Amino acid sequence: MKAEKTGSVESLLTEKRIFSPSSEFAEKALLKSRQQYEEMWRRSIEKPDEFWAEMAEKHIDWFKKWDAVEEYSFKDDVFVRYFRGAKLNASYNCLDRHLNNWRRNKAALIWQGEPAEESRTYTYLQLHREVCKFASVLKSLGVKKGDRVTVYMPMIPELVITLLACARIGAIHSVVFGGFSSEALRDRIIDSQAETLVTANFGLRAGKTLNCKENADEALSNCPAVKNCIVVRRIDRDCNMMPGRDYWWHELMSAATPACEPEQMDAEDPLFILYTSGSTGKPKGVMHTTGGYMVYATTTFKYIFDYRDEDVFWCTADIGWVTGHSYIVYGPLSAGATSLMFEGVPNYPQPDRFWEVVEKYRVNIFYTAPTAIRAMMRDGDRWPLGRDLSSLRLLGTVGEPINPEAWMWYYKVVGKERCPVVDTWWQTETGGILISPLPGCIPTKPGSATVPFFGVNPKIIRQDGSEAAPNEGGYLVIDKPWPGIMRGVYGDPNRFKNTYFVQYPGYYFTGDGARRDEDGYFWLMGRVDDVINVSGHRLGTAEVESSLVAHPKVAEAAVVGFPHEIKGEGIYAYVTVKEGVEATEELKKELIAHVRKEIGPIASPDKIQFSSALPKTRSGKIIRRILRKIAAGEIGELGDTTTLADPAVVESLVAGRLEAV
Ligand code: WTA
Repeated sequence: MKAEKTGSVESLLTEKRIFSPSSEFAEKALLKSRQQYEEMWRRSIEKPDEFWAEMAEKHIDWFKKWDAVEEYSFKDDVFVRYFRGAKLNASYNCLDRHLNNWRRNKAALIWQGEPAEESRTYTYLQLHREVCKFASVLKSLGVKKGDRVTVYMPMIPELVITLLACARIGAIHSVVFGGFSSEALRDRIIDSQAETLVTANFGLRAGKTLNCKENADEALSNCPAVKNCIVVRRIDRDCNMMPGRDYWWHELMSAATPACEPEQMDAEDPLFILYTSGSTGKPKGVMHTTGGYMVYATTTFKYIFDYRDEDVFWCTADIGWVTGHSYIVYGPLSAGATSLMFEGVPNYPQPDRFWEVVEKYRVNIFYTAPTAIRAMMRDGDRWPLGRDLSSLRLLGTVGEPINPEAWMWYYKVVGKERCPVVDTWWQTETGGILISPLPGCIPTKPGSATVPFFGVNPKIIRQDGSEAAPNEGGYLVIDKPWPGIMRGVYGDPNRFKNTYFVQYPGYYFTGDGARRDEDGYFWLMGRVDDVINVSGHRLGTAEVESSLVAHPKVAEAAVVGFPHEIKGEGIYAYVTVKEGVEATEELKKELIAHVRKEIGPIASPDKIQFSSALPKTRSGKIIRRILRKIAAGEIGELGDTTTLADPAVVESLVAGRLEAV
């Protein structure tokens, strides 16, 4: 293991440490050298048809092959099409094809419930049977190819079964995160014109019960088009059931036939819709299709997680987000992997819950979010140190920029400097990972997502559209499609082009800021609306945050711009201190001096506000919109706060603003 550290500065701008995979890891890896990666990447860009045809042959089973591989336009009439004329079925790829070989009796899905004593394992054969039965149930209720099915469920195996059953009969699933409100659910049901809802009576979260069915009922009272609502009995407690509309899952399943042939889907038939928030307006129904998505999810899964047949793979995301779609369900199951699914949260009943699960199932590959890593880091090293984590061989992160401090903690305390860390950058819109190290051959740098995946050609451009120089921050855009890219916004044909292709015609606009260093590594700096311009200098809020979090007394920090008379924008930092640390005026000065020293005077915060918590979505993303408003003093116009995990946080932030210096 090679580790170099030059200088003591921990900020992204000056991060120089680099870690190569151990020779033991590299020798067994799918790709073993940077040169091998470079050759494959170049071929994927220069000869995309040849490259993706090869991946499609190798990783996916087809009922009928394609007439053309890649066809697209990123200008004028924007469209993307892969594998024209080909036929396949996603559930066939995730299940049936594994039944002809030894994987038949391999664990496909291991489910760990929130209560420690509740767990279930499905082999590929068993999962196939359940999926076929539920597909028959859906058919018997009149659900047909192309119909939309909304799914509003906690993290239970029936959720995976539902998705694959929809895919089997060609119905389009639309998962709404189980933590969303009834209003959010209603809007998404109406937008997708679904006539079927699958839910559960209750859910469990950190020892509390969630009233899933009650929320569903409230939503459905405004959705007259919904004809059927299927309810899983997650806990043994009754809930309201409307005769003629509501059915118990177990009752329908007990009478269902396990014979259900997979529908032959066109490569460009939609597989699912997933709603995601943009910077403005109502959530977009991001639509993914079957062929390209399956090829991309499977290929990225195999290469980036370097999956081997004996591994247990655990992605901690909720299936309500794209990460769960691609890396709990479609990628792993299509690859014949053992995918672990967890119902609980990282810190309940105590802060080592994740590590207990890793120990129990001997997890080999672990994929989580920086926000979870920082929270666990705050709880202290004794929790991971108290568990046997020796089964781990690869660690991954996703969802937001990871600050080098958290990366190093993950690498050292969790991975014992033995496991490569893959920082994977992607979006709901991209279907799968676009920028990430390949763990056997790309040395990692803490805080960098490193290099593009095959077929992906990202560029950093300036405001005027010209290409940025090495290390110069700019907009991250992508100059050609890859098979997993979204195909449109459901029900709104113009919105795809208008959201992603009007800023710089010819490029897919990611909405993220980034820079590329002299080694060709990408450093993500947050959404471009989070890039602040201080006295004409562009700064990533992530950079200032990284620097703050690198201070030994800081647990978490969020930085936003606010209007500043002289500088244009000033820097406003919200800081959560570590347990046992006193939040004093002295400490504010110390932090300002610290950031000045680490990044430079340009980055020193103008105001620091201590807060015990930050406003986050239920998926753990900090809602900067609210922080910006509070920083700007626009506290009468905070907008919609219903998507917050804990709305009370906002009140305490507003109160605390007066004390910010
Ligand atoms: C951010 C999640 C830095 C980014 C898969 C992106 C990241 C948005 C990373 C998409 C990463 C995701 N480093 N930033 N490794 N991964 N992001 O749609 O701003 O929920 O645009 O998809 O998350 O979030 P989404």
